[in-house]
Amino acid sequence: MPNVITVDGPSGVGKGTISEYLSEELKWNYLNSGALYRAIAWVVRNDSIDLKDTAGLESASKDIHFSLKNKKLLIKFEGMEIGSLIYNEEIAKIASKVSSNPKVRRSIVNIQRLFKKEPGLVAEGRDMGSVIFPESELKIFLTASIETRAGRRYKQLKDREFNVSLPALIKDLSARDDRDKGREISPLVIPDGAFVIETDDLTIIEVKKIVKEKVNKTYGTNI
Ligand code: DC
Repeated sequence: MPNVITVDGPSGVGKGTISEYLSEELKWNYLNSGALYRAIAWVVRNDSIDLKDTAGLESASKDIHFSLKNKKLLIKFEGMEIGSLIYNEEIAKIASKVSSNPKVRRSIVNIQRLFKKEPGLVAEGRDMGSVIFPESELKIFLTASIETRAGRRYKQLKDREFNVSLPALIKDLSARDDRDKGREISPLVIPDGAFVIETDDLTIIEVKKIVKEKVNKTYGTNI
C-alpha cells in the first residue's frame, strides 16, 4: 500500500506550504482537499445553487472532474480547468458552508481516497488523519492562535497589494474556525496519535525543519 502523510489544522496555519514542501521533497502526490470543497463552491456560485438544496450540492460535486497531473490536483468543470478560480475569499466563504453539509462530505470520501497512489501521498485538510486516511503512518497537526494566523494572512495579502483589514480577517477566520470545529460531521479534531506542532513562535523554515526530521525518522528518508 502507498504511504500517506496527513497534514491537518485550522485555516491559515500554513498547511499548504508544508504539504507542498513535503510532496516536492519526497516526490509524492499532493492532495489539497480544501480545493475539492472550493471547487464545489465555485459550481454552486456559477450555477446559483441554493446552499440549502442538498441534492443540488451533491450533483454539483458530481459534475466536477478531479484528477492528478504532475502529482498535483487538477480540477475540471465542463472541460474547463477551474483550479485558478477558487482561491479567493468569496469562494472560501461558500466552501466553508458547503463543507458542513454531511451529504457533500460523504459524496467525496471515495474520490479523496483514490489519490492514495504510489509513490505516496501528502494529504492536507481538516479531516485527513481523522476520517479520510486514518491508516496514515504520520499524522501532522499544525496549530497557531487566531491572531498569529490572521497576522500571517494579512502580511501575505498586503504583500500582494490587496487592501485588507486585520480585524476583518480575524472575524472571518474565527467564523471559519467555528464552522470547522462545530460541524456535526468530520469536525476539525487532532487525530489520535498526531504529531502536533504549535507554530506561533516558529518561522516557516523552523516548521519545515521539524517536519523534515520527523518524516526522515518515520520513513528512513533523507530529505
Ligand atoms: O483549506 P481551505 O481553506 O482551502 O479549505 C476550504 C474550506 O473547506 C474550508 O472552509 C474548510 C473546508 N475543508 C474541510 O471541511 N475539510 C477538508 N478536509 C478541507 C477543507
